[in-house]
Amino acid sequence: MPYIEFNNSLRVGNRLMDQEHEMLVGYINQLQKVVEEVADSNVIKQVIRGLVEYSRTHFFVEEELMRAYGYPDSEFHLRAHEGFRANASALVRDMDMGDEIDLGQMLGFLTEWLTDHILNTDVQLADFLRDQTLV
Ligand SMILES: [Fe+2]
Ligand SMILES: [Fe+2]
Repeated sequence: MPYIEFNNSLRVGNRLMDQEHEMLVGYINQLQKVVEEVADSNVIKQVIRGLVEYSRTHFFVEEELMRAYGYPDSEFHLRAHEGFRANASALVRDMDMGDEIDLGQMLGFLTEWLTDHILNTDVQLADFLRDQTLV
C-alpha cells in the first residue's frame, strides 16, 4: 500500500486542522513503515496506541471548535467521530486481549476513513469556520 502524501489536496484551509491532519497522516505512514520494516508487535502496538490517542485529541479539538462556533452540522460530524472512536476502542481492546490483528486491513481502513473524512466532512467544518472568522 502506498504511503499517504499530505499535499494540498488533503488541506482544508484551517491551519490548526491541517497541522493535526498532517500529524495523523504521519502516524498512519509510521504505522505502515513499522508493519513493513520492523514487524515487531510491541512496536506496532505502540504506534497504534499513539495514533488512537492522537485521533482522540484531534476529534476533541474539532468538537470544541464546533461547539464554540455553533456549527450547524455538528450532529453528523460527531457521529462520524464516534464511529471511528468505537472502532479504535475495539481494536485496542482486541490488541490487549492478544487477538491477531489483520494489519493490512487495518491500514486500509485507517487510510480510507481519514482521507474520506477530511475530504468530505472536515472540509465543510473548515469552510464554515472560515466564514465565521471573516465576520
Ligand atoms: Fe472531523
Ligand atoms: Fe479532522
